Formats: sequence, C-alpha cells, structure tokens
Amino acid sequence: MTVDDLRYARAVSPREEAPFAERCEALPRLGIGISTEYGAGRGGLDPIELRRMHPDWVQFLEIGIDLERGVDADARRWIESGWPVTYHFLDANLEERESLDETWLGDTRELAREIGAAWLCGDAGLWHMGPRERGHGVLMPPILTDDSATEMAHGVTLLRRATGLEVLPENPPSQVYVGDLHLLDYFARVAERADCGLLLDVAHLAIYQRATHRDPFEALDRFPLERVIEVHVAGASEFTHAGRSFVDDDHTAQPLPETWALLEHVLAHAPRLRALVFECERNRAADVRASFERVTALASAWR
Ligand SMILES: [Fe+2]
Repeated sequence: MTVDDLRYARAVSPREEAPFAERCEALPRLGIGISTEYGAGRGGLDPIELRRMHPDWVQFLEIGIDLERGVDADARRWIESGWPVTYHFLDANLEERESLDETWLGDTRELAREIGAAWLCGDAGLWHMGPRERGHGVLMPPILTDDSATEMAHGVTLLRRATGLEVLPENPPSQVYVGDLHLLDYFARVAERADCGLLLDVAHLAIYQRATHRDPFEALDRFPLERVIEVHVAGASEFTHAGRSFVDDDHTAQPLPETWALLEHVLAHAPRLRALVFECERNRAADVRASFERVTALASAWR
C-alpha cells in the first residue's frame, strides 16, 4: 500500500479488523441462488417467478453490477421483496490500484449498502483496459505471478475496508493465461495476503485445467478450501477453432462432467461454504430443470 492508500483505508475503517476466521462467522448462510445481470431477464430467467415455482432452487440473487448501468427493474423488485442479495462487481480490476479510485470505491460502497448486499464478489481479473468506458466488460484473467497476487491482495483489502463488506475474489474464465503460477496457487496467495474469503467457480476451474492440459483436480490439494465462502457452477460449450478445441464459459444449461465432479468435491470439503450459485441467467426455466435438480441433490448433504 502507498501512504495515501493506507490513509484512505484507515479513514474508511478506523477499527482494527478481526482475522478472517472470526469475521466469517458473521456471514449469513444464503443457500442456493442464481445470478443476474442488467437486462438478463429479457429472454432469460425471471428470478422472482423461478423462486415462486422452485423455492428450493433460488434462495438468493447474485446481482452482476457495473456502476455505469446500475441495477435493473427485475433485480430492484427482488431487492424490494427483502430477499437476500450479493453484489457481483463487473467493473473493477482488483490487481490494478488505479482502477480502485476513491470515486469508484465510494459509489460501490453506497450501492452495495443500498441494495443490502451480504458481501461483494466478482471475477478477479481485468474488466477494463485503461480508463473505464461504457461498453467495457471484456474480462481478462489476472497475470498469474507473485507480484500480481500481492497487488490483488492490496485491492481486495482496500475494497473490503472501503465498503465494510467482505470481498470474495473469484477465479475468472479464460482460454489463455500469462504467468508462472497455477491459477489455484495464485488465489491461495491472494487469500492469505488479504486474509479474505474466496469464491471458487468450478466451471472456470474446469476450463482452466482443460486449457492448460491438466487434471481437473490438479493443485486443489494446495488450495485453501476452508476460505471458500461461495461456489459457482455453470454450463459450458465445447468448440473447435483452427484445429484446436476450446471450452466457452457461455452459462448454458449443461456443466462439463469435470465441473460436476469438482462441485461435488468442494461441497464436501469447504466447511465455511455459505452460498452456491448456478449461473444460468440467460436460459429458460424448462431448459435448466435437469441441472438444477442435480445441483440441489448434490447440495442436500451440504444444506
Ligand atoms: Fe462465476
């Protein structure tokens, strides 16, 4: 942290922080939820209707937010119903301190508090290149190096102290990664240095392991599952380009086989898990039924 960063962090959070193991005791258990983004309800899932039809599928809503667009009418109606929400940012580069300026921190704090978010989370990569511009949102992964992990830990700590809410960095999706660290080792270092919880997206992890020709479970034994507060699962589609095969994180209805296997493992080995999101916002309810039933069946032991 620079001197200015420290001064700001102290100004917004004058009290000493308890260690994560104590702080996380105050986090609510949200159960199973779905994600949404601005306008996702058009042609996709209606969260309130889905909750009415399947209360065991949808206990909370994870709202994907960039400050430029804010929160749409569907999410507003959910919030007004008083049901739980989490704030998934879509406009911050946690490993780049210029991205976390005082205006963004202040506005994010205000909106997160207004909607009553249980915590902040989001793909911990690069959501914008250079200054923020309307229409950004091209998510790239972080540089997987030790220096970058230190920078990201700084960003997580700053955002947590600025908002007073826990910040859970999420392993983002990509086909290509730069840096010498395994994705899971990178986030293990971030979590230790920021003393924070984690959001593990098992669909993104499965894509990473495939893209880098690894076993689906590689490095999971070195990853601090005791810090995982939230898990994401989502469908993905295989495609080929120029003779190479890839997997697109397109949030379709059907997760990869190894995504299911990873989810089962995490549900059994993450003792502080509070929330499970099936990211399927742009599908029709009938198309996600089979996967939702599998998610709820797997989660029954956890719940
Ligand atoms: Fe995710």
